[in-house]
Amino acid sequence: MDNNFYITTPIYYVNDKPHIGHAYTTVLADVLTRFNRSLGADAFFLTGTDEHGQKVEKAAKEHNITPQQQCDETVIRFKELWDKLEITHDKFIRTTDDAHKAVVCQVLQDLFDRDLIYKAEYKGHYCVPCERFFTDKDFENGTLCPECKRETNEIVESNYFFRMSQYQEWLIDYINTNPEFIQPSFRANETLGFLKKPLGDLCISRPKERLAWGIELPFDADYVCYVWFDALINYISGIGYGSDDAQFNQRWPASYHLIGKDILTTHTVYWPTMLKAMGVEMPKTIFAHGWWLVGRDKMSKSLGNVVNPMDMAEEYGVDAFRYFLMAEMSLGQDASFTEEAFTRRYNSDLANDLGNMLSRTVKMIMRQCEWIIPTPGPATEAEAELTAAVEQAIEKMAESLHGMKLEQGIESIMNAVRACNRYMEKTAPWTLAKKGETERLNTVMYNAADAMWKVSVLMEPVMPGKMAELRDALGIEQSDVGIADLSNAANCLTGNKVKDNGSLFQRIVVEDKAKTLQQEKQAQQQAKQAAKAKQKKAQKASSTVTGLITIDDFFKTELKTAKVIDAEKVEGADKLLKLQIDVGGEARQLIAGIAQSYTPEAIIGKTVVVVANLKPAKIRGVESQGMLLAAKGSDGLKIITVDGYVDSGVSVG
Ligand code: ME8
Ligand code: MG
Repeated sequence: MDNNFYITTPIYYVNDKPHIGHAYTTVLADVLTRFNRSLGADAFFLTGTDEHGQKVEKAAKEHNITPQQQCDETVIRFKELWDKLEITHDKFIRTTDDAHKAVVCQVLQDLFDRDLIYKAEYKGHYCVPCERFFTDKDFENGTLCPECKRETNEIVESNYFFRMSQYQEWLIDYINTNPEFIQPSFRANETLGFLKKPLGDLCISRPKERLAWGIELPFDADYVCYVWFDALINYISGIGYGSDDAQFNQRWPASYHLIGKDILTTHTVYWPTMLKAMGVEMPKTIFAHGWWLVGRDKMSKSLGNVVNPMDMAEEYGVDAFRYFLMAEMSLGQDASFTEEAFTRRYNSDLANDLGNMLSRTVKMIMRQCEWIIPTPGPATEAEAELTAAVEQAIEKMAESLHGMKLEQGIESIMNAVRACNRYMEKTAPWTLAKKGETERLNTVMYNAADAMWKVSVLMEPVMPGKMAELRDALGIEQSDVGIADLSNAANCLTGNKVKDNGSLFQRIVVEDKAKTLQQEKQAQQQAKQAAKAKQKKAQKASSTVTGLITIDDFFKTELKTAKVIDAEKVEGADKLLKLQIDVGGEARQLIAGIAQSYTPEAIIGKTVVVVANLKPAKIRGVESQGMLLAAKGSDGLKIITVDGYVDSGVSVG
């Protein structure tokens, strides 16, 4: 079996600091690398920076520093970000590294010696203010600068050209006969479309008087190498091409060159023809992912909407940010970034589903099993269902990797987490504890812990830090178990002592916005009520009191569904539970007098009905924002829930 996995990201320009787009491709490469490692592959992950060319030279000029200083200062920003985001690249290449420059010169000289690079004069029109070169195809009529509409000067410039045109037919044929070469397949069609026009030779030099910042051509000191010709070679110079044959032969061909859709032509036309000319095998797959938009807009400095990944990781945590990037984008398609979408996904997937499941598991084991993960008894249908959900996640994850549908694999892991929560509700370990059914309780708690452990191994590539925390809470010190070992894993949890580490993901409270909205609403309602009270007083004077209310009176009480996220006893009050509830994305705290009928675990995860517009009050010094509805039966309180699934925050009435 081919056990080798070699993946690359684009090497990024160092004209500016990294943004969310750069973070995305690099996190994606990291997640794919970690998954492959977890499945037993020998993986190598290369990233780096593209440091030559006009963009970098221009940025240096603007900052009044040398191009080398521009590179040295900016490369730090990339390296710091990759550290922060837990990126596990095996090598970081800079195109100003001597080793890389030597390989570029070697390739240039070889192609020049074999007449695959030649010198030619080409005629063009130069616009001095714009510092741009235009050829006849750029003009519609006349020769005014297409950019600034000023007069251009006709100049004849000599340059070096790579005989790219001679590979056109070969490339079309290669793309057609190797459907995995360019992915997704609609991108292959895009390249084939481009190849319908005659392919020219590629100008691979720039005269130094026009651009000095580049690798000097080994055969002509008046020129530097065109930045793309230099940059693409990083994918082979980074793994020992021309210097370490053993390493190169082991790693090449690359499994994936990950790129954004913006650089498709350079990677699917320039690069394959360069490799062909060099006599090097083609990479297996060039995968172009989609674009992150901000809301509906393109991200741009001028719009002022550039998302800084460092800030996101600082504010919400590295793992949650990585999770969002991976789960939110369907590989290949564009995706939209908004803080609201981030908060929504974070609260529902991470805080409600995953964090909640861990906390109820750990708390139950603490309270009912004296902190120790118990020995399971015989499995029943409920355990079989849980195991099937985990097995399905393992299978789907591997499948989604091969099909580059990562978000689907991640969704299957979240489905397993949801199955865990259903398992808890179905088996109701709190009831088993009450009834003293210890063996069954032990089975349930063991299986809940076991499923969470497996989820942590599956989700590790996406959220390495948080999944280590999850295992720590289950008393697992270290784990070298990979996804490949999961299906046949033996019981390794019984006897572990759990830890109360607090919640894995603190809910994000959209406090300020929610609060002001709520206050406004309350003020409006109070005003309305005052007016109505006045009216009522007048009515009352002239009618008999019946005890009936009007529908308007009823609707003054805003009843809503809410999901219980967390619950705990209020210290020193044996009737009260403190509940954290979610009312349609808004987090609230409630004090409910139900502690004698419900344990905290029994109520977590339930959908309840609350009075949402009750004036907040302090009960035993703890703030309560609303009221929970419950009926007083002969054997204690029974909370009002809904029949079937309903979102939280839905109106009742
Ligand atoms: O093109 N959404 O570097 P670059 C998603 N140096 N990904 C995005 C993105 C967005 N809005 N914006 C950028 C270069 N990217 C060359 C590459 S490779 C031999 C040379 C990501 O700094 C995406 O991967 O402009 C895109 O291809 C890359 O950043 C471009 O980075
Ligand atoms: Mg770019």
